Order: sequence, then structure tokens, then C-alpha cells
Amino acid sequence: MTKFFLSLHVLAAIIAVGPVTVAASMFPATLRRALGAPGDGDPSTVLRTLHRICRVYAGIGIAVPLFGFATASSLGVLGDAWLLTSILLTTAAAGVLVLLILPAQNRALNEATGSAAPTPIPVAPRRLAMLTGLFNLLWDTVTVLMIIRPGSTTGA
Ligand code: HEM
Repeated sequence: MTKFFLSLHVLAAIIAVGPVTVAASMFPATLRRALGAPGDGDPSTVLRTLHRICRVYAGIGIAVPLFGFATASSLGVLGDAWLLTSILLTTAAAGVLVLLILPAQNRALNEATGSAAPTPIPVAPRRLAMLTGLFNLLWDTVTVLMIIRPGSTTGA
């Protein structure tokens, strides 16, 4: 059963986190292009698609911690320091994505397509790029922790 859960956990990480990483990383540069050419439909369409990928795959990404917890309880490692650290970092990554990146993308999209009145503080592509970098750094760290498992007797 452990192998089954672990396979689903890793598959979910690849299928869900991969697309979010690529789409969220492409968003700030596309936003810069869209802001440079307001009314030009092309970058706005790409922006909308990138945002949709991030939103949908963030939802699918819930499967990662779900199967992660199933694997951990099956292995009996729920109290291990490396796992608790990973859970904390995964929570932080999810928080950055759901509470900061997705709403900022949504606002930027509305501003760039003119479907919302311009706000006093427009979404800066540089801030979005920084948040996306932070999200990537957090889940990269979790992946390394999952593989090295410092302090674990099953560690590499
Ligand atoms: C609540 C969050 C998470 C929990 C509870 C969790 C739990 C686990 C557990 C128990 C293992 C098995 C380790 C072993 O074989 O001894 C594992 C492996 C793995 N996890 Fe997670 N995980 C979480 C988040 C993540 C995230 C966010 C990623 C990447 C996006 C990830 C990627 C991996 C990978 C690639 C492995 C395979 C490592 C290997 O077998 O060498 N995990 N995880």
C-alpha cells in the first residue's frame, strides 16, 4: 500500500506542480508584454490561459499532500523532523500560491484586459515574478527534503 500511495504522491507532484511552475513563471513576462500593448488581444489571451492553468492545477495539487500524508502514515514517519519541516514548507508554498499569486494574477489579468477599472496600485510584474520565485524555491526545497530525508534511517 505504501508504494501505491507513494506512486500517486509523486505522480500528483509531477502532474500538478509542474504545470503551475511553468505557467506561473511565464505569467510576469507575458503581463509585461500585455501592459506594453493594451488592447492587443494576443498577450491577454495567453495571460488568461496561464492563469487558468495555475488555478486548475493548484486545485489538482491538493492530491500531493493528501497522498503524502497517506504515504507518511503508512510508513509511520508522521512525527519525523524532515517530514514536519516539509509539511510546514508545503503549507507555506500553498499559502503563497493561493493567497498571493492567484489573486494577484487575477487582478493583473483584469487590469490588462480592461475588464476592471484601473486600481491605484497596479500589479507589478516584478512582484509577481518574486512571489513565483519564492513559491518555486519552497517546493524545490520540499522535493530535496523528500529525497534526502535528513536524520531518517531510510535517508539516501
Ligand atoms: C504535506 C506535504 C507532504 C507530505 C506529508 C509528504 C510525504 C512524503 C512521504 C512520507 C514520502 C516517502 C518518503 C520515503 O520513502 O521514506 C514522500 C516522498 C516524496 N515526496 Fe512528498 N510529501 C509532501 C509534499 C511533497 C511535495 C510538495 C513534493 C513536491 C512537489 C513532494 C515530492 C516527493 C517526492 C519526489 C518523493 C519521492 C522521494 C523518493 O522516494 O526518493 N512531496 N513524501
